[in-house]
Amino acid sequence: QQRQPFHGPHQAGIVTPRPAAGLVAAFDVVVQSPADLERLFRALTVRIAFLTQGGRTPQLDPKLPPADSGILGPEIEPDNLTITVGLGAALFENRPWLRPFKPKHLQRMAGFPNDALDPELCHGDLSIQFCANTPDSNIHALRDLLKNLSDQLVLRWLQDGSVPVVAPAADGEKQSARNLLGFRDGTANPDSGDPATMARVVWVGEANDEPAWARGGSYQVVRIIRMLVESWDRTPLGEQQRIFGRKKVSGAPLDGRTEADVPDYAADPDGRVTPLDSHIRRANPRTPEAREHLILRRPFNYANGVTKSRQLEQGLLFVCYQADLEKGFLTVQGRLDGEPLEEYVKPIGGGYFYALPGVPRPGDYLGRPLV
Ligand code: HEM
Repeated sequence: QQRQPFHGPHQAGIVTPRPAAGLVAAFDVVVQSPADLERLFRALTVRIAFLTQGGRTPQLDPKLPPADSGILGPEIEPDNLTITVGLGAALFENRPWLRPFKPKHLQRMAGFPNDALDPELCHGDLSIQFCANTPDSNIHALRDLLKNLSDQLVLRWLQDGSVPVVAPAADGEKQSARNLLGFRDGTANPDSGDPATMARVVWVGEANDEPAWARGGSYQVVRIIRMLVESWDRTPLGEQQRIFGRKKVSGAPLDGRTEADVPDYAADPDGRVTPLDSHIRRANPRTPEAREHLILRRPFNYANGVTKSRQLEQGLLFVCYQADLEKGFLTVQGRLDGEPLEEYVKPIGGGYFYALPGVPRPGDYLGRPLV
């Protein structure tokens, strides 16, 4: 499917199958009153509905700047584009009238022990995630929003990335795309095609202790995680596999044969096969209690060129969604603190945002209950 529906109880771009190109941008907003916020939300809704559904761009008088950048030509194809809007804690905290609406767990991202956060790559009042088949569609959409909302959106940081879209193997077996450390990534993700699982893991609902307006939304975590790829490429294969707890070529767990095989930690209590400090065993020990801490990961690989110290600047634009930020990302990241993978990765930016509920019907707009 090339056109992702815009209207619905949830925003697109969260459980939507991940296309090849992703871009997350964070903004500060010029909003001093509920009326300003309404103007911003209404304008975002109009632009997003157009950009994701496609159509012809208006042709204006040549004496005026063109209505559209023209990057995609006069006819905008939807290209699987989704645009997902999230709100940062700063938006609520710096505007007293919005404070009572702040989702309960929304907070400013604090550094974890292995982080080296660059303040210029962190936080923001508002996040926008763009995903499409081609990077040009994401760039076009970003430019459209910046032009049409230039008096209210101030760009803070952005990171784009890509990921190959991998078809299942000939025998129908799942094959996940690889990250830039060469490992299949996404294997153990909860099934985004299963609405019951998503209702439990991703969407805020009645069971969550959140303001009523927030139902249908989700906590979005963005982390720009640099990879020290030169060191990684000199690390023995056996060590790489012990660090993740999976086989590099197949993606199988260390006690399994295929990517779909499920590791049996009960049969390996001392971690002789899958080390106790391996990434997957720490991230999800697969105890009954660990079911409470599932997250939906939706990352992209990035390559930004060369660092000042002449190393490759590559990494993972880690994005995940969950109904409860504390039970989800914060608990899982807490368990990963000190993992051996840290020798090869360095989180440098990102933020926590609340992905708004969807726009249920035409005529309605994003974030309406907040204004
Ligand atoms: C699993 C890579 C960061 C949470 C995995 C797997 C790989 C991987 C290769 C195994 C395949 C899979 O199930 O997807 C990476 C890399 C990272 C990174 C390269 C950083 C550059 C994170 C972060 C979190 C996280 C920041 C959350 C705090 C998980 C979880 C699993 C997983 C929950 C599934 C574990 C399971 O259920 O077996 N990761 N990851 N990862 N990762 Fe990461």
